[in-house]
Amino acid sequence: MDEEFEILKKVIIEKIGFFPERYKERPLMRRIAVRMRHIKINSYLEYARLLERNIKEQDLLHKTLTINVSKFFRNYVTFRRIKEAVLPQLLREKEKRGGIIKIWCGGCATGEECYTIAMLLDEFLREKKSSVVFSVIGTDIDEDSLNTAQIGCYENKAFDETPEYFLKKYFKKDEKFCVLKKVKEKVKFVKLDIEEENMYLKELDLILFRNVLIYMKRTFQEKILLKIYNRLNERGFLVLGKVETLVGETKLLFTIVDSKERIFRKCRILKR
Ligand SMILES: C[S@@+](CC[C@H](N)C(=O)[O-])C[C@H]1O[C@@H](n2cnc3c(N)ncnc32)[C@H](O)[C@@H]1O
Repeated sequence: MDEEFEILKKVIIEKIGFFPERYKERPLMRRIAVRMRHIKINSYLEYARLLERNIKEQDLLHKTLTINVSKFFRNYVTFRRIKEAVLPQLLREKEKRGGIIKIWCGGCATGEECYTIAMLLDEFLREKKSSVVFSVIGTDIDEDSLNTAQIGCYENKAFDETPEYFLKKYFKKDEKFCVLKKVKEKVKFVKLDIEEENMYLKELDLILFRNVLIYMKRTFQEKILLKIYNRLNERGFLVLGKVETLVGETKLLFTIVDSKERIFRKCRILKR
C-alpha cells in the first residue's frame, strides 16, 4: 500500500508538476481519495496507471489538489487593519524615499485578493491625495485559476464580504461583476510555483500569503517563510491567513503588528 502510494506520488510529480511531499499527508490523501472514489478505483497503483495516460484525469486531480477558493475582502477585518496599520506606513516610507509600493499575493487563486488590495490602495491613496504609485503581482501554480483572474469577472458569491461601496465603485455589472480597467492595469498575474524565483519578486513592501501555508508541512512552511522574508523590503509587511502563523526560526524574523489578523513586519535585526 505504502509502495503503491509512493508510485502514485511519482506519477503526480511527473504528470501534473505537483509535489506531494510538500503538503500535509492526510488532507492530501483525502483529496486523492475523492477522485478515486469518483471514478470507482480503489487501488493507488491502478489510479497511478490511469493517471499516467489520462490527461483529463490529470487536470481533474490537479484541480482537486490545489484548493482555489477565494473571494473579495475575504476576512474583511484583515483588510480594514491593513488599511489602518500597514498602508499609512508604506505611504510614509515612499513619500520619504521615493519608489513605488510593490505588493505580492502568493497563491492568489482566481485573483480576488489581488484586486481587493489594489482597490483598497487606490482608495487610500486618493483619500490621502497622494501621487505615489503601486503595483500588485499575483502568482499561483494553477493556470485555470490565473486565466479567471486575468479575465476579472466574478459571480455574486465572490462578494459576500465586499462593502457595497467598493462593488459600486470598482466593478462594471454585466452578466457578472467585472473589475474596472483602471484596477486591472495595476495587477499582473504570473504562473509560478512558490519556490521559483522571479525578477518581480524582490524588494516587496507587502506580501499577502493567505490560506496557502495551511496545506503545507511545517518544514516546508518554514522554508517558504524564509523565502518571503528575503523577498521583503527592509521593513516590509507580511499578512497570513486567519489560521496560519509563523513557525520555527521564522518567528525571530518578524514582529507582530496584529496577532488576530496575522499581520507581521520584517525585523531589522534578528530578535533573540
Ligand atoms: C485557498 S487558495 C488561497 C487564495 C487566496 N490567497 C485567498 O486567501 O483567498 C490557495 C492557492 O494556493 C495555490 N498553491 C498551492 N500550492 C502552491 C505552490 N506550490 N505554488 C504556488 N501556488 C500554490 C493553489 O493553487 C491555490 O490557488
